[in-house]
Amino acid sequence: MPIDTLSTEKLSHGLHGELCVPGDKSISHRVAILAGLAKGRTKVANFLCSEDCLHTLTAMRQLGATVEPEPNAHSFTIIGTSMHPTAPQNEIDCGNSGTGMRLLAGVLSALPFNSRLTGDESLRLRPMDRIIEPLGLMGAKLTACGTRRGCAPLKIDGRQLHSINYTMRVASAQVKSAILLASMFAEGATTVHQSALTRDHTERLFAHFGIPCTTSNGGLTVQTGGTALPQASNISIPADFSSAAFWMVAACLVPGSELLLRRVGLNPTRTALLHVLHRMGADIRISDEQASYEPYGDVIVRSSSLHGTELKAEEIPNIIDEIPILAIAAALAEGKTVIRHAAELRVKESDRIRTVVTNLRAMGVEVEEFDDGMIITGKESITGCELESFGDHRIAMSFLIAGLCAEGTTTLHHCKNIDTSYPGFAEQLRQLTR
Ligand code: S3P
Repeated sequence: MPIDTLSTEKLSHGLHGELCVPGDKSISHRVAILAGLAKGRTKVANFLCSEDCLHTLTAMRQLGATVEPEPNAHSFTIIGTSMHPTAPQNEIDCGNSGTGMRLLAGVLSALPFNSRLTGDESLRLRPMDRIIEPLGLMGAKLTACGTRRGCAPLKIDGRQLHSINYTMRVASAQVKSAILLASMFAEGATTVHQSALTRDHTERLFAHFGIPCTTSNGGLTVQTGGTALPQASNISIPADFSSAAFWMVAACLVPGSELLLRRVGLNPTRTALLHVLHRMGADIRISDEQASYEPYGDVIVRSSSLHGTELKAEEIPNIIDEIPILAIAAALAEGKTVIRHAAELRVKESDRIRTVVTNLRAMGVEVEEFDDGMIITGKESITGCELESFGDHRIAMSFLIAGLCAEGTTTLHHCKNIDTSYPGFAEQLRQLTR
């Protein structure tokens, strides 16, 4: 079997034990960027050494930051550029990462040199006009040079930016963060009004690195000054809630399971899946919760029977990355699960409405597709079969978990993309299921 192909079988025993999933992807990108811009040395522990985040780290090296290894795995010291990055010799490759490209575009727009951002085939098809528009209002000059309109490669003519007062058109933390990062270099104070609450890692890390940033109007407005100089500050990154989500759903679904997931990030702008699973009847408990720059704690999951639910519009930005794995829970829950207001899924690493619907139908599940989501009718038993990952890490992992509950064998092709967010997933899967 090619290394790129993975299979799972219906499990005859529960999932047991303890698991540490790797560091948070969103936080790792931001720490690489902010520590790379900061004055001084930042020791980073539990960085996510996945392809996506390593691309962002390499980008910061290309911009003059130094990265020194530390003895502990996934730890290193980043020596920042004191807000004076140097021009990269070559174009910057963001690989598969929309977060990496959009956040770096915010920084590069404000620097006094020209640069170019590119990525893999999937990233070169994803919309960049959502950042080009607000950064353009700040005076930035970004040109989308891709074969698809509004898409990468991005040519950036860096220049001095000015502040804006901007109301977001899409509920996107990537767009918000691109503006906030650009605003660190811009004159005056920039205010961003969010149409819906999105993950707030950038704001929390601004506080950690000492960048003035205030929130008002019920948390919907964020302001930064124009003369920011982030100060290096050691940091440890919690486990990624979105990676832990695969095991949460797996342990809910596989009868007789009891899993303990250690030090999982529990930022309330990321944890809607917990609330949705609780509504569906899941037995999930949090223990040993710690408050830090980001809250985290242990998550204990026991199997239980689930029933369908309807996602609320305001929950969608908070659960956007977990919808593929939630769809697997829905496929095995009693009754219907309604997922609407989620058109953003169509512009992720794959069109996640299309790819989830296609794979669920192949497993014998009744799914109705809408422009902005799907309605899944759960059933007692689903059928293992051969499936595509469509080059999407979360599709690959979600359907490998589905295979643990499906009759026969489930085979996923083109799984290498799992390494973009969760290196070691296949090994942990093997250990838990043997
Ligand atoms: C991310 C934000 C989300 C999410 C992505 C990571 C981030 O995208 O889907 O995986 O780190 O800011 P949008 O903000 O574009 O919805």
